[in-house]
Amino acid sequence: MKKLLLIFLFSLLILQTVCGFDYEEKELESEEGLSKLYDRWRSHHSVPRSLHEREKRLNVFRHNVMHVHNTNKKNQSYKLKLNKFADLTIHEFKSAYTGSNIKHHRMLQGPKRGSKRFMYENATRIPSSVDWREKGAVTEIKNQGQCGSCWAFSTVAAVEGINKIKTNKLVSLSEQELVDCDTRQNEGCNGGLMEIAFEFIKKNGGITTEDNYPYEGIDGKCDASKDNGVVVTIDGHEDVPENNENALLKAVANQPVSVAIDAGSSNFQFYSKGVFTGQCGTELNHGVAAVGYGVTSKGKKYWIVRNSWGAEWGEGGYIKIERDIDDSEGRCGIAMEASYPIKLSSSNPDASKEDGVKDEL
Ligand SMILES: *[C@@H]1O[C@H](CO)[C@@H](O)[C@H](O)[C@H]1NC(C)=O
Ligand SMILES: *[C@@H]1O[C@H](CO)[C@@H](O)[C@H](O)[C@H]1NC(C)=O
Repeated sequence: MKKLLLIFLFSLLILQTVCGFDYEEKELESEEGLSKLYDRWRSHHSVPRSLHEREKRLNVFRHNVMHVHNTNKKNQSYKLKLNKFADLTIHEFKSAYTGSNIKHHRMLQGPKRGSKRFMYENATRIPSSVDWREKGAVTEIKNQGQCGSCWAFSTVAAVEGINKIKTNKLVSLSEQELVDCDTRQNEGCNGGLMEIAFEFIKKNGGITTEDNYPYEGIDGKCDASKDNGVVVTIDGHEDVPENNENALLKAVANQPVSVAIDAGSSNFQFYSKGVFTGQCGTELNHGVAAVGYGVTSKGKKYWIVRNSWGAEWGEGGYIKIERDIDDSEGRCGIAMEASYPIKLSSSNPDASKEDGVKDEL
């Protein structure tokens, strides 16, 4: 009997984790219903809130619930959900999670430095869809926490990708090394540029593994002993010609690419699934990685974009962003600031240091 009960409780747990958080329309109809919904949401996401804050947070939650609900009633190609950001205002959300200030850093650093060369200029093999996850060139979704380090995650995703393509080994690499050590022009949790991080990795002689220099999500002091545990090298980087989704397509067909987007809208905050066609500007504030592209059965074209907000956000941590729009900057500015690392060699200098490397052949 006890055993049965345990099995029953256990399967409830599994269902909860698998199904995520949902609500019924009638819960939105009364204050009491909303208040209970809020408490249920809080325990689902284990969000600690002091009693003192509860009323304010409930007000924000109410506003967000109505936004999610009303948006989902519209016939659009994407849906929203009450995720872990549901009691944050858009302002709080933007400052905590889209703090990469790409546009600000671009202004400080001046024009792009990559050579004007674009190695995929004449690429002819452009499949109608590509998913680098299926080719084992993408690591598990990571979580930047409340640190504006997405530029490091974007950089690392592109380097992990080209490293797998060239060496056939998928190695999870260290964002914290970039946060702590690439501080001459980039600013850790205060934001940075992927382009500068690629140059840092090249000059540094490579980047070490996640295991060797794990993520902490705060600005730390560069740990020289770990910084020396270099495993993956690159030979430089190139920029994708600006405001040109076709050029971006040629690049992504060949390797995962670092891109910057404007992620500062409520629809982005609560994105759940489908092809994102929501309004968003071009105030680039978030670094992510384009790891593929495709087209839905209804003919809607999209980019497969890897985010760094954990697997619970979006489609297992990913978002499909509408592709090939009339606007040359791309949806959310995705074609404005794209760059990728170059790796010539099919091995890394000291392969013996690749302990804990996952071979995904
Ligand atoms: C919803 O949108 C799709 C495609 O945009 C369209 O084919 C369909 O007719 C729409 N349905 C309704 C109920 O408006
Ligand atoms: C692409 O082709 C043109 C014309 O043949 C050539 O001038 C250019 O160098 C090529 N670009 C690259 C990156 O190979």
